[in-house]
Amino acid sequence: MEDKVVLITGATGGIGTANAIRFLDEGASVFLTGRSPEKLDTLAKKLNKPAKIQSCVVEAIDEAAVERSITQCLSEFGRVDSIIANAGTEGKVQALEEYSVEDFNRTLLVNVTGVWLYLKHGLKPMRDQKSGSFVAISSGAGSVGFPGLCPYSASKHAVNGLIKTACLENANYGIRVNALAPGPTDTRMMESVGAQINAEDPAAFKDMVLTSIPMQRYATVEEIANLAVFLASDESSFCNGAVYMADGGFTAA
Ligand SMILES: NC(=O)c1ccc[n+]([C@@H]2O[C@H](COP(=O)([O-])OP(=O)(O)OC[C@H]3O[C@@H](n4cnc5c(N)ncnc54)[C@H](OP(=O)(O)O)[C@@H]3O)[C@@H](O)[C@H]2O)c1
Repeated sequence: MEDKVVLITGATGGIGTANAIRFLDEGASVFLTGRSPEKLDTLAKKLNKPAKIQSCVVEAIDEAAVERSITQCLSEFGRVDSIIANAGTEGKVQALEEYSVEDFNRTLLVNVTGVWLYLKHGLKPMRDQKSGSFVAISSGAGSVGFPGLCPYSASKHAVNGLIKTACLENANYGIRVNALAPGPTDTRMMESVGAQINAEDPAAFKDMVLTSIPMQRYATVEEIANLAVFLASDESSFCNGAVYMADGGFTAA
């Protein structure tokens, strides 16, 4: 990834930060987006490579902010070789009949509209460059159901549809569009799901999830970043329009 430019959304979260670290290690410059300016500042200081890092605040469904982040990335680094559309929310965890329309739609907006906005604005400069790799962070829950996570699972199924369509519309511009689908991964998000399902004993949720993962553990964020680097790089030059799992066998059953 030497001299490549990678824009990472949701960079302040578990998987986003691991991606930022890994792409920097690979020699890329990174443009980081997050919704909290304080968290972005702290992250940039921690990463400590000022010449290779730029950032801006983006709320996932703010189209003007998404567009601004692409413009700023181009003006700072001159190009955008890859976009890791990683920002996402688990939303509320409850039975599907208990959701309000507002809560249901909120998860869909952040996880689906948020990714689509980066496809809408991020693929344009890639078309001009005649190259680029877009990686949407989907989920194992984009291929199977997950009790309690109805809008989340629906949103990740939708992400898989988005990337397939984007592949078909952009392959002849030299652009690849794929989804990376992690299984349960050791971040704040799985802790939140566990706490929402059983506030008194969140660990009980993890024990239950582990019974459905053949490898009997959560992924590390580094294992997810490994696949992101592969999909972003020319190593995956014939991978297009597909969903790549890193789920320890979670969706094999
Ligand atoms: N952890 C898992 O088990 C797992 C499994 C499969 C897929 N995934 C997917 O992986 C991605 C990263 O998740 P994670 O596990 O790293 O969780 P995380 O630590 O909670 O990170 C989520 C990131 O998305 C950002 N975000 C959330 N809502 C946003 C909004 N409305 N506007 C802008 N940014 C927003 C968060 O910002 P803040 O830092 O400000 O909160 C954070 O940076 C998500 O798309 C998630 O669905 C995770």
